[in-house]
Amino acid sequence: MRSNLKKILFITSFIPVIVFKVVARVGEADIIQAKVATLVGLILAGIQFFLSKRFINHTTYLEKAFIGFLGFGTAWVYLTPDHLSSLFVDHSTTLLYFVLFLTTLVPQLFGYDPFTYAIAKQMAPERVWNTPQFRMINLHLTYFWSGIFLINFLLSWLGHGKPLFSILIPLIIILGIGLPVVRIYPNLFLKRQFTPQPIDSSFFPKTAKELISLMPMGFNPEAAGDLKTEIQFNLTGDGGGKMVLSISEGRCRAQEGEVLSPALTIISPADLWLKITRREIDPARSLMDGLYEVKGDMNLLMKMGDLFRPPTKVNGQEATQKEKKTLKILAVQGSPRPKLSNTEILLKEFLRGAQSQGAETETIYLKDKDIHSCVGCYTCWAKTPGVCTFNDDMPELLEKVKGCDIIVYATPLYNYNMTSRLKAFQERLLPLLDPHLIRTGETYRHPQRYEVKRKMVLISTCGFPEISHFDGLRHIFGLIEQSGQVPLVGEIMMPAAELLKQGGLKERTQDILQSAYRAGVEVVRDGRVSKETENQIQKPIIAPDEMAEMANLWWDSHLQGIAQGKPQEGGIEDMRLLLRGMAATFNTQVAGNLRGTIQFEVTGKQPGNWFFTIENGRCAYHEGKVDSPTLTIKTPPEVWLAIANKELDGQQAFMEGKYSAAGDMGLLMRMKSLFGSGRP
Ligand SMILES: Cc1cc2nc3c(=O)[nH]c(=O)nc-3n(C[C@H](O)[C@H](O)[C@H](O)COP(=O)(O)O)c2cc1C
Repeated sequence: MRSNLKKILFITSFIPVIVFKVVARVGEADIIQAKVATLVGLILAGIQFFLSKRFINHTTYLEKAFIGFLGFGTAWVYLTPDHLSSLFVDHSTTLLYFVLFLTTLVPQLFGYDPFTYAIAKQMAPERVWNTPQFRMINLHLTYFWSGIFLINFLLSWLGHGKPLFSILIPLIIILGIGLPVVRIYPNLFLKRQFTPQPIDSSFFPKTAKELISLMPMGFNPEAAGDLKTEIQFNLTGDGGGKMVLSISEGRCRAQEGEVLSPALTIISPADLWLKITRREIDPARSLMDGLYEVKGDMNLLMKMGDLFRPPTKVNGQEATQKEKKTLKILAVQGSPRPKLSNTEILLKEFLRGAQSQGAETETIYLKDKDIHSCVGCYTCWAKTPGVCTFNDDMPELLEKVKGCDIIVYATPLYNYNMTSRLKAFQERLLPLLDPHLIRTGETYRHPQRYEVKRKMVLISTCGFPEISHFDGLRHIFGLIEQSGQVPLVGEIMMPAAELLKQGGLKERTQDILQSAYRAGVEVVRDGRVSKETENQIQKPIIAPDEMAEMANLWWDSHLQGIAQGKPQEGGIEDMRLLLRGMAATFNTQVAGNLRGTIQFEVTGKQPGNWFFTIENGRCAYHEGKVDSPTLTIKTPPEVWLAIANKELDGQQAFMEGKYSAAGDMGLLMRMKSLFGSGRP
């Protein structure tokens, strides 16, 4: 409705001048008619101006030019003597072209909107007004019109106002050249800007959200300079979500979520953005067509092509070589206890995933290596550049580091940091650096002595349930990434990782292991671990309170054994822990409105009585005996533990009389789905 009104008011804006010319008989009128013509024209221009202000709260330069022209003319014919007043009418067309020439030339020179921009705004949706393309097209068209009006002014002037030169030829120019150019030029401009590039779509992830999380890989720090900004993506529909790209100090990071005041916000259907990035769709055209919306700093939008490079296939041969190249992954394991190591469990899954994609992997167990910590003598920089004074295991490892495509740092969290073994290893990477200081963005760093093509992955586990324990380690790796210019393409971090060894939680920890495997697949296939996968691994398996209770139970049952130097095995060994874990992984959805009690009477090596109460979708663990349990299970600990550790089939063990059950046998049958799986 409003846009129709705008179009109508645009057309009616010509009426005052047309009426003026008709009444003034194209300059043939006597002085009375000229006075009437200018006054009528001025009144009509005033009405037009008022209507535009009143109904669309906006007036165009044309309206302003016409009202100015007719106002000046009216004043002229009424205020000057008769022999002079006829001059305005005689030369009105020439004068009008001159006014239009000035109107199309002057405003942009003083920083105002160009002439056609103000008119085009009447026609185009507001969201495209601020796009650089919209502004550029209108600036070009405005200069084009000022050229046309200048020609018409000269024709009319030199042709002494004869209708052929002041009306016919100018009209032919306006209608035959001006209007067609206005129609054709925007498309021509946009087409010229969009140069489809051959892109290897196999490099592209399936979803737009994943694609944004991979954008830092194609980030160009040189183009960014000292740019510090945030770009918000609000991608709607399947594969979408809210993502933020934060750029500062020559680095770019992608994360899920929203920021308060991003410099640029891109709101787009997820599939459209995927197509735009694949260069299947012209970004400028679709922006102008309103298919997606952009708010904020348009210059930043224009710069995005330089800041982020999509993976391009330079030529067929190079791409084939790329596909064929076997990725070498070097894992450096910093846990002092690799056999029982939680970090090792994740690392192994990660490497299995990477191997499934054809990567070649090797793991260095630092615990078995002789690596002296750095003594800061700088021999490797001065006396023997690139070669350390210590001839321990490190020189051999440096060669492996130099030759790998991905280095995986795997470390348990020790005092919020990496282990001392990994720290010593990292200190001893000094020979790979050159002593000089160079500036990147706002910070200085040592350049790499040798060309570096490798990327980094960080794998870490910690004991506490809070993910914030990793903050320090993440920060350190962020700095390592920045100073070494080695992209960190995956952060695999699992809090409360001791739960990995709890048999009662096996089904839940399985999900984490699958995610670690997927991380390995992604790093080879997509070049980095997706944020989804990273988040999956960080998600708590059970509530922190329950985790703490299980940890305390574990310590109570193991303190003595550890003090006596008994080896701790990987599987679950304690009935209390097992039962506590089962209660923690109780499946609320499967339970529905189930009510009941399950008594465990454990005989043999670890005797004891424990029971579960189930109600309101929750399962609570208790020590002792309950009156009239719904189900009673009598078992030696090793049988139930073997079932939990998946070494024995529960039903078969029951049939074979390895344990007994009394009471609600239906409940016994449901136990497999009620406990552990975490899924209905
Ligand atoms: C010396 C030492 C320091 C530790 N510091 C932390 C810590 O700061 N935060 C934390 O959550 N866990 C801490 N832990 C627990 C370990 O990070 C956790 O058990 C980890 O999963 C062990 O990994 P691993 O089995 O691969 O060696 C520490 C453990 C040790 C032995």
